[in-house]
Amino acid sequence: MKKLFVLPAIAIALTMAACGGSDNKTTTTATEETTTEETASTETVPGVEKLEISNTIAIEGNDQMKFDKELFRVKAGEPIELTLKNVGTLPKESMGHNLVVLKPGVDVATFGGEATSAADNDYIPKTSLTSIAAHTKLLGPGEQDKITFTLDKGVYTFICSFPGHFGMMQGKIVAE
Ligand code: CU
Repeated sequence: MKKLFVLPAIAIALTMAACGGSDNKTTTTATEETTTEETASTETVPGVEKLEISNTIAIEGNDQMKFDKELFRVKAGEPIELTLKNVGTLPKESMGHNLVVLKPGVDVATFGGEATSAADNDYIPKTSLTSIAAHTKLLGPGEQDKITFTLDKGVYTFICSFPGHFGMMQGKIVAE
């Protein structure tokens, strides 16, 4: 009696395993996709939760080769007004500043390297325009520039692309 019961049970188990096999595959793929999407949309930066969401950004660059703020939280899909002011006094040729918002995933060091050879275009490398979400002009002492742009959800690194500055002058914009 036991054996008679066991055989059909094995057959059922095998059938289920076969079905389960293809089901599992589908499930695994779906899970992977979901995970990737979640990583992209929930990626964030520590401390950003303490900031108010604001699409008006005012930021300064100075002679100490620093931005005065390094983290912003904005609403995605709506225009962002960013004003960069160079509050330093050193000449533009030696301490100019701009602000370049890089698209997510762009390698900062690689971009910074390419920017170095773009002196004729305010250090905005024409070969890497697809890496840029937005950028200001290159500013000399006392100058400022206001730009308007819109970001999709994500975490964006911004830098000053003046040669040698991006190591010190960089920050993040979290668009949510
Ligand atoms: Cu700079």
